[in-house]
Amino acid sequence: MRLKEDSPYATNEPPPEMDETMSLQSKYSNAHQRKVVVVGYALTSKKTKSFMKPKLEGLARNKGILFVAIDQNRPLSDQGPFDIVLHKLSGKEWRQILEEYRQTHPEVTVLDPPDAIQHLHNRQSMLQAVADMELSESYGKVDVPRQLVIKKDASSISDAVGKVGLKLPLVAKPLVADGSEKSHELSLAYDKYSLQKLEPPLVLQEFVNHGGVMFKVFIVGEAIKVVRRFSLPNVSMWEVLKNAGIYRFPRVSHAAASADDADLDPCVAELPPRPLLERLAKELRRRLGLRLFNLDIIREYGTRDRYYVIDINYFPGYGKMPEYEHIFTDFLLGLVQSKYKKRTTY
Ligand SMILES: Nc1ncnc2c1ncn2[C@@H]1O[C@H](COP(=O)(O)OP(=O)(O)O)[C@@H](O)[C@H]1O
Ligand SMILES: [Mg+2]
Repeated sequence: MRLKEDSPYATNEPPPEMDETMSLQSKYSNAHQRKVVVVGYALTSKKTKSFMKPKLEGLARNKGILFVAIDQNRPLSDQGPFDIVLHKLSGKEWRQILEEYRQTHPEVTVLDPPDAIQHLHNRQSMLQAVADMELSESYGKVDVPRQLVIKKDASSISDAVGKVGLKLPLVAKPLVADGSEKSHELSLAYDKYSLQKLEPPLVLQEFVNHGGVMFKVFIVGEAIKVVRRFSLPNVSMWEVLKNAGIYRFPRVSHAAASADDADLDPCVAELPPRPLLERLAKELRRRLGLRLFNLDIIREYGTRDRYYVIDINYFPGYGKMPEYEHIFTDFLLGLVQSKYKKRTTY
């Protein structure tokens, strides 16, 4: 594909008309004659609905990007040709199909490599990259909450917690984070006797008070956007002593409303410093080998600069990222342009 530096078109002709009524085949041949960037997408119907909004498709069309749904019942090689493949589907079979396609079609950018995504499907390996990082502390310290993985045997949890000295209350999260409803069923354990009621495999994390507000950091390549969300309220020492048992909370993250316009204590509401998020995102992009993800980050209550990453998700709900339509389309064009530049430098 030949591209000009600042445009996805080889010539100055206007973007192609892509009438809704056009057949897919004629869309394709038109697209390829006119050097359009063709992006195949394999997303669940829920994700397609929240991501493929008319505004995104319209803007993409104006910038010379054509989104085409991948048919999972047909071989991938028979479809396209694609410049980019966007995907978020689960299952071993799909991973194998994509891996094979990546090998046989090195000219296509697959966002992102299946193996790298797989890393985020386990809450232990998900946060390992953050734990391994050595960011300079000039804008604040970023860590993960102290945590323990329990693979099996609920009766041993209390001893294991005592041995490593984790402080109550603890957040219990299913070890597998595959996006299923079950994987979002979290619990808060107030006392050590109740820990045996939990169901391994799970990750036990120290609960970090953060004033009931968390930050969602959306990453699309080098672009970053951060939004505030309501989160779990602080738990006082008094509550820990007074309460006992396990409190289950299904899918907190789903219900979390935007806190961007709320009247909040400025100490709680203040966004993490931009340079800190930029360094963190850059380092995680490199370590995880991913370009499309988000992270949940909280700031310890009463501190200005102690941050904890508690969750990382692949291809999150970008529909909630401000201006994602512009950011995404620019990112896709940038990918194709940098590939073209690379090829012409040889
Ligand atoms: N270690 C923690 N300390 C305090 N709050 C937490 C902690 N871990 C999770 N939470 C709260 O629970 C919510 C859901 O946790 P998260 O790990 O993001 O799971 P999910 O995969 O369901 O999004 C977070 O948004 C936050 O409100
Ligand atoms: Mg989350």
